Amino acid sequence: MKTIFSGIQPSGTLTLGNYLGAMKQFVTLQDDHQCYFCIVDEHAITVPQDRLKLRNNIRSLAALYLAAGIDPHKSTLFIQSEVSAHTQLGWILQSQSYIGELERMTQFKEKSDGKAAVSAALFTYPSLMAADILLYQTDIVPVGEDQTQHLELTRDVAQRFNNRYNDIFTIPEIKIPKVGARIMSLQEPTKKMSKSDENEKGFISMLDEPKKIEKKIKSAVTDSEGIVAFDKEKKPGISNLLTIYSSCTGESIKALEKKYTGVGYGQFKQDVANAVIQLLEPIQQRYHQLIDSDELDLILDQGAEKASFTANKMLQKAKKAMGLGRVRKK
Ligand code: AQP
Repeated sequence: MKTIFSGIQPSGTLTLGNYLGAMKQFVTLQDDHQCYFCIVDEHAITVPQDRLKLRNNIRSLAALYLAAGIDPHKSTLFIQSEVSAHTQLGWILQSQSYIGELERMTQFKEKSDGKAAVSAALFTYPSLMAADILLYQTDIVPVGEDQTQHLELTRDVAQRFNNRYNDIFTIPEIKIPKVGARIMSLQEPTKKMSKSDENEKGFISMLDEPKKIEKKIKSAVTDSEGIVAFDKEKKPGISNLLTIYSSCTGESIKALEKKYTGVGYGQFKQDVANAVIQLLEPIQQRYHQLIDSDELDLILDQGAEKASFTANKMLQKAKKAMGLGRVRKK
């Protein structure tokens, strides 16, 4: 059975983009793969976080994973900072990553752009991400399109380590969904939808109430052409809504274009909103049952224990391969 690892940052409440680009795939993959799903809280602190909000976001993300359908009997769900092997291997892999490689990362350039104080962790975080993945002999990493560059770096670093020391790391493959890999902001449809966007109208949170979802979709930026057609360059707003609609219902974009021939944007937006609400409502109901439960803590305790067991074995192999620590003289 192949192994899957994927992580999500608790840097805010998950967006519809996180769900359609990443989490939705996780749920189907867990049936025939060994899966590790991680709340990567150590990634979230690469930019400033309010401590109480971070605490809430970590718990909320764990509940959302389960509400969306992650089954703890099939998958291991855990919090990154509760498995110390991640930062330990992260440090080791920093020693195998080059400054030039890290400087090329688009996400670093975007997140540091125009900021006076940028943390060193924001710069080196792809090495920690490589550690997250490599600790579990991961074969496949299901992510949204924005993570492609980080995955390529992970593969390069793993290969480099294997060539220099010992062939211990599995080289992971990236898996990107065919539709929904890049959901765009509702207000700036040329920019990706992000949970840390300062403009709340730009994203749909997985916990937004139906009225709010409807309002946000109705005020989504489109164009004045009045034709529901997919054209990323000329009609980014409508194309984004078509992608959202298609990912929520499973209807193809072609079929939707046909269905909405001659129909105005008002009706189209209403139907997109209904599709999103129908998708999110049952997840929200399960979320509210889970968020304050002991069951959630138990699942996370067991997840951390199981993940630590596997991760520590790989960490020891990496340390041994590099000559770290000592060998007992009997
Ligand atoms: N807009 C998106 N469309 C499709 N997939 C997306 N992902 C993120 N945004 C979109 C995928 O969600 C997973 C978790 O991402 P993350 O939280 O670890 O980091 P991120 O990619 O930086 O997500 P955000 O929402 O943009 O967070 P902030 O605002 O904190 O930077 C990944 O698989 C990602 O590809």
